[in-house]
Amino acid sequence: MMRIVSELSALRAQVSEWKRAGQRVGFVPTMGNLHAGHFSLVRLARTHVERVVASVFVNPTQFGPNEDFDRYPRTPDADASGLQSAGCDLLWLPSVQTMYPHGPEATVQVRVPAVTEVLEGAHRPGHFDGVATVVTRLFNQVQPDVAVFGRKDFQQLAVIRYLVSDLAIPVELVGADTMRETDGLAMSSRNQYLTAEQRPVAAEIHRTLQSVRAAVVAGADMAGAENEARATLERHGFAVDYVAIRRPDLTAAGPGKVGRVVVLVAARLGQTRLIDNLEFDAS
Ligand code: PAJ
Repeated sequence: MMRIVSELSALRAQVSEWKRAGQRVGFVPTMGNLHAGHFSLVRLARTHVERVVASVFVNPTQFGPNEDFDRYPRTPDADASGLQSAGCDLLWLPSVQTMYPHGPEATVQVRVPAVTEVLEGAHRPGHFDGVATVVTRLFNQVQPDVAVFGRKDFQQLAVIRYLVSDLAIPVELVGADTMRETDGLAMSSRNQYLTAEQRPVAAEIHRTLQSVRAAVVAGADMAGAENEARATLERHGFAVDYVAIRRPDLTAAGPGKVGRVVVLVAARLGQTRLIDNLEFDAS
């Protein structure tokens, strides 16, 4: 049976008991409204450790003032039963008061430099400060040996890697593959905002990323491939925030031989903002 815990003292007692018994603890932080992508993270965690903790916390500090914090989908019963089926041992469900004892406005903040300032960071000011702040708190609460994050949120994982190495947080990070719908659309809690007309169009993001890969592998220049992808998405009705080919640490790729790269996209279809990426060897 999966335990559901909202008191920090109970979380601490359970995790210490496991660790005393020599069991390693894995952790999967989420904001709930869980889908197969999240459950794949729990299953992946299981392959690394004996015990898995997942958290559900819709973190107010990572949403901008005009973003979807209030309407972010909340499905606590389905989340709990899905986590239990995926093999989660403990669901950590902190209240805002437990997460931010001094209130979200008076919290100690964790700010990661550089990698937070580009791409998502440039389009969502303060977003990664909220993510770094809450993930630091979650790591302190759960004290996991291993934590699993999806590569779907490629830049978020880069931010957390920097955070963990710079603050010497004793946790091993594991990146998980992106789970997709059959037409290639990356699974996301935000997909349900899409209308019936928009839903098939949304798969164009993945197709466009694959075209960028094909073009770059065939020798196209990076800027040309980025521009072409942007034009394709705009033709399909997207408002494009960025299409960018970068090295895996998100610094500029090229010119010349660059090896492994990632192409990242953020684009809006109506009110819904979608992100996706594709990693590949450019040369
Ligand atoms: P959330 O968007 O709920 O995502 C939780 C985790 O699931 C993240 O690591 C994310 O990359 C991963 N994920 C989402 N969609 C996925 C997919 N289609 N395939 C594989 N993994 C997927 O990311 C957050 O929450 C928050 O920012 C959080 C880290 C919990 C901090 O509040």
